[in-house]
Amino acid sequence: MASFALAHTNLALVKYWGKEDEKLRLPSAPSLSLTLNAFYTKTKLSLSKENKFVLDGREEKGEEAQRVFSFLSSLLSLFRLPSSRFFIESQNFVPKSAGFASSASAFCALAAAFSKEMGLCLSKRELSIASRLGSGSAARSVYGGFVLWREGEGSRESFAVPIEEKPSMPLSVLFLSFGEKKKKISSSEGMKLSKSSPFFQIWREECRKACKEAEKAIKDDSFESLGEISERNACQMHALTLSCGFSYLSQLSLRALSLAKELREEGVSCYWSCDAGSNCALLCRKEDLDIVRKRAEKVFASSVTCFSAGPGNGVEAWSES
Ligand code: PMV
Repeated sequence: MASFALAHTNLALVKYWGKEDEKLRLPSAPSLSLTLNAFYTKTKLSLSKENKFVLDGREEKGEEAQRVFSFLSSLLSLFRLPSSRFFIESQNFVPKSAGFASSASAFCALAAAFSKEMGLCLSKRELSIASRLGSGSAARSVYGGFVLWREGEGSRESFAVPIEEKPSMPLSVLFLSFGEKKKKISSSEGMKLSKSSPFFQIWREECRKACKEAEKAIKDDSFESLGEISERNACQMHALTLSCGFSYLSQLSLRALSLAKELREEGVSCYWSCDAGSNCALLCRKEDLDIVRKRAEKVFASSVTCFSAGPGNGVEAWSES
């Protein structure tokens, strides 16, 4: 018998950037995301005589495998299960070579397949807590649509909750890949460095405020408000890293930010976002996706590869004999 899980990635509209507890991955502030339909990880997990991790058809033996198995052993101790070994086969339907993070979908799928295989019948809340131990953003991939990850006092209180699993807002995300292969500063390292910023407390407060405002914008079905909140929050995150002497942004990322502004001036609602890398995302109304894509392809020509996505579903897990 083997268990399977499929989890989608998510784009943070209010970013998780800073931890209160490194090991438990307790965030310094709440974050809010949109689960995406186009990018996902499918994972098969079964009990085995030895640990083996196959990613996209190739056996992994290095750092990635180590992270996966130390995550699984932390789940074994969390649920007081006897020591076990696993055979894991994962397929990432995330353009990883284009520099998009797959840790959210990867760890969420892994936690869900583990829960299924071990017969744990975890609630979504417990699954969110378990996924969080692998990668913070994975806590949010448990649910579809708009998701809020509360900061919480301890590990039992830090989990994601759904805001609107099937968003009524007709929104699309256009990802702009500028070909960056691997970020020089991992998100964990970047978060650690950012905590020394004199603006870190302000950043925390801004995220708390932005989550409340974003929830209201979602409730009011106001795409423009949500877009403005997201763009402001992404700019603040990158200002925070710059205040510590490093940046993920390239000239092309900054050009994408001004492109969003130009489009707005022309009457197209379009907003910029960017995570821990130079690739960017442009949020727009579904009906404007073609206009935004055409402009991006014109402005960036051969420097860009575009991928589009809409709201996606939460994690699913099943068993097969
Ligand atoms: O979950 P991690 O450790 O890969 O960190 C994610 C960090 C950002 O993508 C920049 C923000 C976020 O909330 O997803």
